[in-house]
This record gives sequence, structure tokens and C-alpha cells, in this order.
Amino acid sequence: MKIAIIHGPNLNFLGIREPEIYGSQTLETINSILEDYGKEKNLDLTFFQSNSEGAVIDFIQKCHRDRVEGIVINPAAYTHYSYAIHDALKSVDIPAVEVHLSNINTREDFRKESVTASACIGQIAGFGSQSYLLGLEALLMTR
Ligand code: DQA
Repeated sequence: MKIAIIHGPNLNFLGIREPEIYGSQTLETINSILEDYGKEKNLDLTFFQSNSEGAVIDFIQKCHRDRVEGIVINPAAYTHYSYAIHDALKSVDIPAVEVHLSNINTREDFRKESVTASACIGQIAGFGSQSYLLGLEALLMTR
């Protein structure tokens, strides 16, 4: 099964960025944990990170062209205001799970709203890097 893992803005700074909220693992570490898990489950995983909204949208469209079968996406701050990423997810017929390291529901008010989650089959938040593994599991369970 071909699955894309998409990380939004500032997630390339994991490990440096507010470790008390996002943990001390780097994005490379998280990706390699996912890669190992993917090998166990015989998944073909592709990883993408960008700090730009347009690049995330271009990549979601590429997922369609490449016949990707599932997406795990952490839209990061775009979660809260990117109707363009919402529309991109809606444009492609690929089940997506939204994930967040932190529990966005217990943080600042502006983080409590996700405009992208309604374009996804579900959302997982608050389990640190495990949120990504749970997102992958959720995709496998719904295939
Ligand atoms: C985040 C939560 C967002 O509110 C924030 O802007 C991020 C990371 C998370 O994974 O907890 O960049 O998506």
C-alpha cells in the first residue's frame, strides 16, 4: 500500500522547537520510526515536508497522479486556516488522516479549530510522535 506522510510548516524544526510541547525527537527520527513500521507492514511510504502552503498542495496533487492510496498529514499551523489545503485534500480521492503531536483541543483557542480535519476521514491529536503511528494504523484499518 502506497502511503504519503506529509508534514507542514516548522515541523522540520522538531527537536529544536518548543520541546516541552512537541518533544525532543527530530523529524528525521520520527520518519525513521515510521519507515521501520512501514517495512514491518509492507507499506511503501513517501515522506514530504514543506514550510509553504503551495508546496503542500502541489504534493497532495502529485499523490493523486502517483496513485497514492492513503495520506497521513500534519498540516501544522495550516490546520487552523488553510482552506486551500482543505480543498486540495477534497480534490483527490485519497483517504487522509490528520495528525497532531500536541492535543490541539487543550491549547490556545485558535488551535482548537481545524479547517482541514473535515477533509479527512479522522483526526488523531495529543500522542506525540505516536500520533503518526496511530494515523497509519487508522489508515490500514479503514482500507
Ligand atoms: C501541530 C499543532 C499546530 O497548532 C501547530 O501550529 C504545529 C504543530 C502539532 O503537531 O501539534 O505546528 O500541528
